[in-house]
Amino acid sequence: MRDGPFTHGGICQRGMERRLDMNDKRRLLVVDDEHAIAELLSRHLEREGYRVSLAFDGDEALETLENATFDVVLTDIRMPGRDGIALLEASKQLDSTLPVIVLTSINDVDTAVHAMRLGADDYILKPFTLDALSVAVERALERRELILSNRRHREELELAVEEKTRKLRLALSEVQGTFNATVEAMVSSIEARDCETQHHCRRAREYTLMLAHRLGLRGRDLRDAGWGSLLHDVGKIGVADSILLKQGPLDDDEWGDMRKHPIIGYRLLSPIRFLHGASQIVLHHHERWDGTGYPYGKQGEEIPFGARIFMVADAVETITSVRPYKNALPFEAAEEEVVRCAGSHFDPAVVDAFRQIPRSNWISIREKYFADLDQTRTQDESAIVV
Ligand SMILES: [Fe+2]
Ligand SMILES: [Fe+2]
Repeated sequence: MRDGPFTHGGICQRGMERRLDMNDKRRLLVVDDEHAIAELLSRHLEREGYRVSLAFDGDEALETLENATFDVVLTDIRMPGRDGIALLEASKQLDSTLPVIVLTSINDVDTAVHAMRLGADDYILKPFTLDALSVAVERALERRELILSNRRHREELELAVEEKTRKLRLALSEVQGTFNATVEAMVSSIEARDCETQHHCRRAREYTLMLAHRLGLRGRDLRDAGWGSLLHDVGKIGVADSILLKQGPLDDDEWGDMRKHPIIGYRLLSPIRFLHGASQIVLHHHERWDGTGYPYGKQGEEIPFGARIFMVADAVETITSVRPYKNALPFEAAEEEVVRCAGSHFDPAVVDAFRQIPRSNWISIREKYFADLDQTRTQDESAIVV
């Protein structure tokens, strides 16, 4: 005999009303193959204010659970077909927060303990009073409410964090966009003063990035190399047009002024925290490996690595582009010059990396910018030798 007698304990009227208030929307599923017992439990729980559904075996119970939402399941253990243990496992897979209370006879305590290990929230030994049943159901509901409210709280927090992160990213990308546009405008203003070198800075940046990447620069170092190469001549803002655009050779005084542009550029950029690394490249972009450059005559590894990389990229760009004083030369000429100057103008390690990059990579960057220029190409420019 699996089921013992049930007694209706004396629940006081006020307690009953309170439960009716609290539980009027809670849905319970009672599962027992003994119809009479299932119906007795159901009647009692309905009096307590719950909405109760019945199932008379494990399969029917599972189907019911799959089609509706419940707050507590009360199940007998021994049933034909899918028993209470199998139902417990299946229902926890459907909803891990759904409390399952197992009803079991006094001589089956081991099974009840096994059920608890599998995630049952409580067990009630038969025979039990209906009061005990009510208390177990209330306790299960309270526990579930706590779990659900914790989960809601966590989800709200996650949503709030997600929203804040999204707004922060948006704000950051707006700042970044404004910053990029400002820098691009600075570069355009440099290039506009000297239309013969249009796109020089942008091509030099791409060459520098390709070379820097080959040499293992990543993250912030790579970013600094990009900005530094793009802005390398920003200091020319402080050089008079009469010098900058002069068609003939510069005299000593004019050269003196021209050679100030790395320092002017450095002073412009170094106070901007985001451009501090780049400003080092700007400051040293005319130094030479053998110490014969300017403004400080630094040599070898005293010169920041980014600047040493840029020097090679800048030379390739200058040699293969047209200038007021020369035609553009083919890439082979640039290659020859860079290799010839390894160890004098250029860091030999950077020259090695330069030689490892296929020629077609350099040429495709160059062609990309000449495609841009096609729309504004002048008669003179058509004489460029590629
Ligand atoms: Fe320069
Ligand atoms: Fe340059």
